[in-house]
Amino acid sequence: MNIDFGRLIINDSRPLVFILSGAGLSAESGIPTFRGKDGLWKNLYPSEIASDTALKERPEDVFEFTTSESERPPPVCQTPLILQLHNFSSRLKNYCDVVHVTQNVDNLNELAGSPSVFHLHGDFQSSLCSRCKNTFPRLGLYKKDNVCPVCGASDYSVRPNVVLFGEMPYGLDWITSYLKKACVFMSVGTSGAVYPAANFVLDTEAAIRINFDIETGKRKNARFTHEITGPCSQTLPPVLEALKEELSSRFEDQKNK
Ligand code: OAD
Repeated sequence: MNIDFGRLIINDSRPLVFILSGAGLSAESGIPTFRGKDGLWKNLYPSEIASDTALKERPEDVFEFTTSESERPPPVCQTPLILQLHNFSSRLKNYCDVVHVTQNVDNLNELAGSPSVFHLHGDFQSSLCSRCKNTFPRLGLYKKDNVCPVCGASDYSVRPNVVLFGEMPYGLDWITSYLKKACVFMSVGTSGAVYPAANFVLDTEAAIRINFDIETGKRKNARFTHEITGPCSQTLPPVLEALKEELSSRFEDQKNK
């Protein structure tokens, strides 16, 4: 793998690695992507079924869609790849911070033991009250009559805590400053079709894109310093290993000075 990590600029005594993941990270666990060959958006229009307007105009359709998506059977295989990401973060924690922001709404990271992964687009495990804006654990199916445990609102107020098209993703108040501080940004399994995540790379220095294929046209972003293609179960582990080697050797060097 031809990655010259030796050229990483580390200004801080405690480096930060920023990982942005997308549907490609969960794909090999059997969860379909959005824009791939059998992707969810091949036959559905997100504006009609997963947008703020659709929720206002046809809440029953949005509820039915998100319920059926969140009720998908559990992943066909366990999550070795995601476990590796988790292990990477754990093994580096003595001298490096790893921030993992995912666009995925599944709970594969949590199942692999990484409760601190941040869900930019929310998650299927929690509900959000449209009236009081509180979030709380999801109970059962989404129905018109579900009642918010905080303010008592009903009538489609208790909705899935997933960010719909037209709504603001979470974490935008702190993400930019972490991106600027990061010595490496890794984009894993995301098409770069959805903003603002697609623009995170603009705030970074060294940026690695790990994806099944190279994006072309509008989605191609020249800011990536490295493009690594192939299934991330094969491409991600050697990148993590090489990065761990580089960061740990620099840490040892610093300690010995
Ligand atoms: P996409 O479906 O747009 O992109 C998934 C990317 O993963 C594609 O570029 C695939 O080539 C790549 N991919 C597929 N299998 C892979 C594998 N085994 N290894 C590596 N890469 C693989 O999904 P996202 O970019 O995550 O929004 O989509 C972003 C957002 O659009 C989602 O969070 C969702 C969706 O509408 C909301 O839910 C708000």
